[in-house]
Amino acid sequence: MKTLYGPIYGYPIHIGRGAFCQLQYLLPQGKHLWVVDSEVARLYAPLLQDKNVYVVPHGEGSKDLSVYQALLAALEKAGLGRQDTVVAVGGGVVGDLVGFAAATYLRGVQLWQVPTTLVAMIDSSLGHKNGLNFGGYKNQIGTFYAPQGILMDLDFLLTLPKEEWRSGRGEMLKYACLLGGDEGRLLLEGEVTEELVALCVEYKNKLVEKDPYDRGERRLLNLGHTFGHAYESLSGMTIPHGVAVAMGLSTLAAHAFRSGTMPIEEYQLLQEALEDLDLPKAPVGALGVALSHDKKSTQGGIDMVVMERMGACRVERLSHEEVLCRYPF
Ligand SMILES: NC(=O)c1ccc[n+]([C@@H]2O[C@H](COP(=O)([O-])OP(=O)(O)OC[C@H]3O[C@@H](n4cnc5c(N)ncnc54)[C@H](O)[C@@H]3O)[C@@H](O)[C@H]2O)c1
Repeated sequence: MKTLYGPIYGYPIHIGRGAFCQLQYLLPQGKHLWVVDSEVARLYAPLLQDKNVYVVPHGEGSKDLSVYQALLAALEKAGLGRQDTVVAVGGGVVGDLVGFAAATYLRGVQLWQVPTTLVAMIDSSLGHKNGLNFGGYKNQIGTFYAPQGILMDLDFLLTLPKEEWRSGRGEMLKYACLLGGDEGRLLLEGEVTEELVALCVEYKNKLVEKDPYDRGERRLLNLGHTFGHAYESLSGMTIPHGVAVAMGLSTLAAHAFRSGTMPIEEYQLLQEALEDLDLPKAPVGALGVALSHDKKSTQGGIDMVVMERMGACRVERLSHEEVLCRYPF
């Protein structure tokens, strides 16, 4: 098992196969309420025996005020005090919901995150953000709140549905493009190991340390997202988020290759990794419309993360015309 330490607060992040059974020795004294995704609760019932478990329905619909309110009632019923711990077991949805409840109940109770999807391990459980959807918009309500610890048991990934796996790999390829060099190349390979998860965790943690409230350098994590969001919304949200991000990376890489900043060998390696994800063909025509709906977009243009090559990415302000000229793919 590998142990890293979280940004700013130095809480432990344990990463290892079969690590879940160690959690009982890691949690602080006091009461524990385990809040578990319904699918995870079904698949891993034997692991949760003898625990005080509260199950929330799986899926994005649980990032909702009504589910949050029911969860607060469960925290109250369990008699949780500020020194007691709520343990979130599930993907990004449960992590975001429970993180928000832990931050707000009694103005903050102890929180442990146990991410069970690849997206949650390398992205959503890190960086202290939580959120609920509201008024038809994603993550419209939320806080920044750090956990007391995170435990990532890679064995959970063995039951991940294919779509969720593709989504997580899409996010992993984003880290490959941001990191570049030997580490980036390792991340392009298909296997998900403790070391590779740790590379992503370390990279995000460094950005969070420098930019805890997501106002500057942390925006690099939006690599691939400008096009990703556009492809996602044009598909009527049928393309999983991480897959849409990977499509966005493909668009950026094609431009980098054509303008000569990305060497052919690197471009080919990246394309091979992207092809493994079986990406749908990106729609071209309506991209301009979708871009103008992007929340980072203002009348003067858009702040976009551009890629010259793997390991050379930066935020750049581009007009909509520049975006459409540069990336006509
Ligand atoms: N807070 C942040 O910084 C941040 C960052 C990125 C994404 N997010 C949020 O995370 C959410 C997406 O997270 P996600 O992709 O993990 O989705 P998710 O939590 O909906 O999980 C995806 C599906 O996988 C199932 N599942 C979870 N673990 C499983 C396992 N081990 N085996 C089998 N099935 C399993 C779930 O039941 C669900 O159906 C979004 O709501 C997004 O907004 C938050």
